[in-house]
Amino acid sequence: MKGLFISIEGPDGSGKSTQIENIRNFFADKNIEIVFTREPGGTPIGERIREIILDNSFKEMDYMTEAMLYAASRAQHVAQIIRPALEAGKVVVCDRFVDSSIAYQGYGRHLGEAVEVINSYAVKECMPDVTFLLKVDPNVGKTRIKANRETEDRLEHEKMAFHREVFEGYLELEKQYPGRIVGIDASMGIEEIRDEIYRKLEEIIK
Ligand code: TYD
Repeated sequence: MKGLFISIEGPDGSGKSTQIENIRNFFADKNIEIVFTREPGGTPIGERIREIILDNSFKEMDYMTEAMLYAASRAQHVAQIIRPALEAGKVVVCDRFVDSSIAYQGYGRHLGEAVEVINSYAVKECMPDVTFLLKVDPNVGKTRIKANRETEDRLEHEKMAFHREVFEGYLELEKQYPGRIVGIDASMGIEEIRDEIYRKLEEIIK
């Protein structure tokens, strides 16, 4: 495919939103048009699925149901937005992608390899070229969320043990895909993190 596919990952409260703004600014300053999108969501169907997944009142949601809903949202997202954009040679920047499912559902929910299998049907080899992984200790992440927001969604509301496992999952992924995943210590200052991301982006677009 001709385009460039970038995803951004990290545990809840890793400062992902701030760095996404920086990535958008990076491309805007260079007059490079990007397709910015997010998961779960990114399409009208995906946004409806997102409402179901994050709804705090669905306490009964089975973990496999959850994993399949994320994958369903992703299948639509790849088919409708990501693949066509990449085929047209565009830069796609996606807030979370399949690594989130592997970390949250595979590790956090202990669904293991089933998550990879389900998602292989959803993405059909449409994988990011580069993934920025913001690494922050789950305790720090949780404190940041509490400080910034009054309510937590269904996933954020999970116990600390869950968030620890999600984080472990991310660290495993980083080891498994060193060529794709760029791990960044997100306990650094906002500007330092931004500079590290910008350095890598400069390298990529060269
Ligand atoms: P969102 O509000 O987008 O959170 P954030 O700002 O942290 O990205 O909510 C997405 C939540 O869904 C977040 O807790 C991570 C979780 N998630 C999964 O568990 N699996 C997935 O495949 C994806 C994409 C997200």
